[in-house]
Amino acid sequence: MRAKNILMSTYKDIKRITTHVLQEMKDRGEKISMLTAYDYSIAKILDAAGIDILLVGDSASNVMAGHQTTLPITLDQMIYHAQSVIRGVERAFVVVDLPFGSYQGNSTKALNSAISIMKEAGAHAVKLEGGVEIEDSIRRILSAGVPVMGHLGLTPQSIYKFGTYSVRAKEEAEANQLISDAKLLESLGCFSIVLEKIPADLGTKVAKAVNIPIIGIGAGDGVDGQVLVVHDLLGLTKDFSPRFLRRYLELFDVIKGAVEEYITDVKSGEFPNKKEQY
Ligand code: KIV
Repeated sequence: MRAKNILMSTYKDIKRITTHVLQEMKDRGEKISMLTAYDYSIAKILDAAGIDILLVGDSASNVMAGHQTTLPITLDQMIYHAQSVIRGVERAFVVVDLPFGSYQGNSTKALNSAISIMKEAGAHAVKLEGGVEIEDSIRRILSAGVPVMGHLGLTPQSIYKFGTYSVRAKEEAEANQLISDAKLLESLGCFSIVLEKIPADLGTKVAKAVNIPIIGIGAGDGVDGQVLVVHDLLGLTKDFSPRFLRRYLELFDVIKGAVEEYITDVKSGEFPNKKEQY
């Protein structure tokens, strides 16, 4: 318990998380906490709780807009979400996903997309999905002084190529490609990499093979930090239960219960009571 308290005071004492602080955390073996956020109110709560990184993920396409995939969300919509998150944050490092179609195959477009996110939203970094195939885009963005987080393993923007959301890199060839991509991203200058849904021993291997922080989502316990979609952690989503997910609340049921009570009170005339009016 005492060790836990000492650790808590260490990370809570940090006033502002930067890429430098994140690297120090990896170097001293302190795990990095990361969650998604898409709006001001939730970002403010997560920041107050002491989260290290907030990701304005393109999963907003799923959990905020109700799409089946992350593909439909636009750059302008990502900027809107990012602006809202940034307004709620004092301490966390805010990373914003470059959406599908805003960086692949055209490094000038990639640079312009990243600059729009940094300039219009005040983000601290961008995240891109892929390895060697997007090397030019990553180089170009980094050359403008914009920090880049990589994303390997299950990359949801390529869902129609994969065909399923099942675990990636189980075969040796794909695992070797992933390790080689991780080393490439590090050598290009990425400050961190997200690894999604891969075998735990591969996650550990990658975290040992590179010096930059590796953040996992379904990549096991041997990586340098963990990320979850905040709607999943809070139980706002009910129909998504991959093995890697731990739900800390069942907010869907809590909110539904509260709203049912409200409806009953309105219908019966119990709300508002005399004290709740002018
Ligand atoms: O968009 C997102 O939420 C993500 C996480 C799954 C890492 O990229």
